[in-house]
Amino acid sequence: MKTLFFNIKELLQIRDKSILKVSGAEMKVLPSIKNAFLIIDNDRIADYGSMDKLNHYNADRVIDARGQIILPAWCDSHTHIVYAGNREEEFVDRINGLSYEEIASKGGGILNSAKKLQESSEQELFEQASKRLEEIMKLGTGAVEIKSGYGMTPESEIKMLKVIRTLANSYPLSIKATFLGAHAIPLKFKDNPDAYVDQICRNMIPKVAEQNLASYIDVFCEKGYFTAEQTDKILKTGKEYKLIPKIHVNQFNSIGGVQVGVANEALSVAHLEIMTPEDIESLKESETMPVALPSCSYFLSIPYTPARKIIDEGLPLALATDFNPGSTPSGNMNFVVATACIKMNMNPEEAINAATINGAYAMGLSRSHGSITIGKMANLIITKDIPSYHFIAYAFGSNVLDKVMISGEFI
Ligand code: NIG
Ligand code: FE
Repeated sequence: MKTLFFNIKELLQIRDKSILKVSGAEMKVLPSIKNAFLIIDNDRIADYGSMDKLNHYNADRVIDARGQIILPAWCDSHTHIVYAGNREEEFVDRINGLSYEEIASKGGGILNSAKKLQESSEQELFEQASKRLEEIMKLGTGAVEIKSGYGMTPESEIKMLKVIRTLANSYPLSIKATFLGAHAIPLKFKDNPDAYVDQICRNMIPKVAEQNLASYIDVFCEKGYFTAEQTDKILKTGKEYKLIPKIHVNQFNSIGGVQVGVANEALSVAHLEIMTPEDIESLKESETMPVALPSCSYFLSIPYTPARKIIDEGLPLALATDFNPGSTPSGNMNFVVATACIKMNMNPEEAINAATINGAYAMGLSRSHGSITIGKMANLIITKDIPSYHFIAYAFGSNVLDKVMISGEFI
């Protein structure tokens, strides 16, 4: 199947295949062609250019995109989409004055979701997660990372990862799986968290690796969750089994997680709401992608990741949703891009780079996703007739998407 888009008002994020991420001042540049054409051959981008270079082309589908902007689909590099039920009762508790940490210390939070997940079957989890996945595809997401972490027993963690594998085999978008056994300390291990770390290292990691259920390993490195030392031990064990680190750090406190991530060559470190100058310096010595999750800051009313400091220091930054039942019950990357501009002072160019090519990098997919590049996946957002791409962030809360194409098919 060959598809030709013509008269495209602006084709955004055109990149040579050698570009795997953009950093610092480069993030303000969003290469584009105005009045463009784009050719899709099956599931891949086959050609593009300015309309005056379009020769006669025999396509099966010809689409006039007058007034419309086309850009690569969003790459959401951090989610927890597989979960059981919701936590809207805790949302109301927070409105009434309890903090996220207070709710967690009363056995709510991640432990609440773990209990619900342990009681759910693989089929139930698949059905619930499918709805969320279908929703985010319609919102323009073409590649997503999904974590385990609400299982917290060997059986339930494996169950979650199997659901992620079934989702990957059932939907056209690209899915990368991350093992997050170290998401919280189960009640049973409250007085001996190191014993849970041992269970993760000796029991869970070998099982996950043996069944090839994940590419990445994650730890929630935070006060009351996992220390920097425990994080280091888990990441080192994961690496022995070829699981690449991709971790949660600095959400509420800076406790050395960034340094542990960098020392273990983490692909990404996410959250980063609380960043010291030392944390920023450590990232400069690395290939690790910092990832901001602005809809989590919005939902929990916690500080936003200091994007300006990070980018102005020459670092790259990716944006992701963190879609999960406790801190971000939303998988809307359009909202993330808008919030990054509105609350983190990112320019629309920076936010779009962060949500496409840098998001792809943060899940090891930037050779095949995240830009308009010949040979990359035909994952596209086709906007409505809008005045400029700035409008995607400016008109927050409005749906500016006309169509979404994933792997060459319209969703
Ligand atoms: O990234 N911070 C740790 N994990 C999730 C929240 C999980 C939850 O509250 O269920 C996050 O925000
Ligand atoms: Fe998260």
